[in-house]
Amino acid sequence: MIKTQNTIHPISALLLRWYATQKRDLPWRNSSNAYYIWLSEIILQQTRVAQGMPYYLNFVQAYPTVQDLANAPEQDILKLWQGLGYYSRARNLHAAAKMVVTDYSGIFPTQYSELKKLKGVGEYTASAIASFAVNEPKAVVDGNVYRVLSRLYNIETPIDTNEGVKLFSQLAYELLPTVHAGEHNQAMMEMGAICCKPKLPTCVQCPVIDYCEAYKHNTINERPIKSKRTKVTARYFYYLIINDKKQHTLIHQRTAGDIWQGLYEFVLIENAIAFDEKELLVAIQEKLNSTKFKLKQTSTTHKHVLSHQHLHTIFCEIEVAKLPIIIGTVAIPYNQVNTYPLPRLIDKYLNI
Ligand code: ADE
Repeated sequence: MIKTQNTIHPISALLLRWYATQKRDLPWRNSSNAYYIWLSEIILQQTRVAQGMPYYLNFVQAYPTVQDLANAPEQDILKLWQGLGYYSRARNLHAAAKMVVTDYSGIFPTQYSELKKLKGVGEYTASAIASFAVNEPKAVVDGNVYRVLSRLYNIETPIDTNEGVKLFSQLAYELLPTVHAGEHNQAMMEMGAICCKPKLPTCVQCPVIDYCEAYKHNTINERPIKSKRTKVTARYFYYLIINDKKQHTLIHQRTAGDIWQGLYEFVLIENAIAFDEKELLVAIQEKLNSTKFKLKQTSTTHKHVLSHQHLHTIFCEIEVAKLPIIIGTVAIPYNQVNTYPLPRLIDKYLNI
């Protein structure tokens, strides 16, 4: 379709009308403050709206301005992010806030080309902020949009190929109106989130069902198509919760190049396969470089699922007279462990 000034594609018109009455009332939607929009988008890349909401509200309350976020200690930000996963995103959040303060005098940019320069802000996030805040005509293509478009046009091209990325972006732009770009983008995403869902979509409520080729061809459940299956690695973790007589324990801060960079954990033994009881005892002896310990309790296996990894974890409660010296660990009172930013796996264990 050739776009002239202010043309609205009929699909966009229907989506906008639907959105006006069906949208959820979400706190970041009633704001054109780019800082709040950015915060919400970075959090929502990690999780669904219901789970992301408390994080968003906590961030806004703790850091009402981008200056507040820039000035915060990284550990506090990681603590607030705890449970969302992909902790590099929290560090990028901090770096981007600092950039806004130093390079933009603390005024959050709203232009796509400027937003793209911020750490952790890619094409999707820049398009979302620029269109939501100032209606810059940039089409967003997130997981919801891929699904909606792949069904509307019954597309067989896999979304995770260069060809797919190009095609879906082109289609998203064909639908994008020259005005109301922000509302249109939100409407596409909202429709994907609450109606055109991955499983059991509610097609009877769909505002654009008359245009849906996948509905016509009964291929809704086969769209979108992905070319690759993600490879999942299994890892076996044994956390040693070592306590001395004074209720002190050892923790360790994870470093770069693996999951959970910057977060804290108990002393970890990792193995490529599961240990049997005897092997575990030997591994603990080696780690502590001592035989003077009492293995008081081992937990059942906790399975923690990350996007590409399944972590099979056993927590081992160990009593010692004196804490061993293990390079890279620090001794702290056990009751202070939960004041450190922890992986959700450990936080959950401590809170059961
Ligand atoms: N998912 C990603 N961005 C969103 C937004 N602005 N509103 C609702 N869900 C979203």
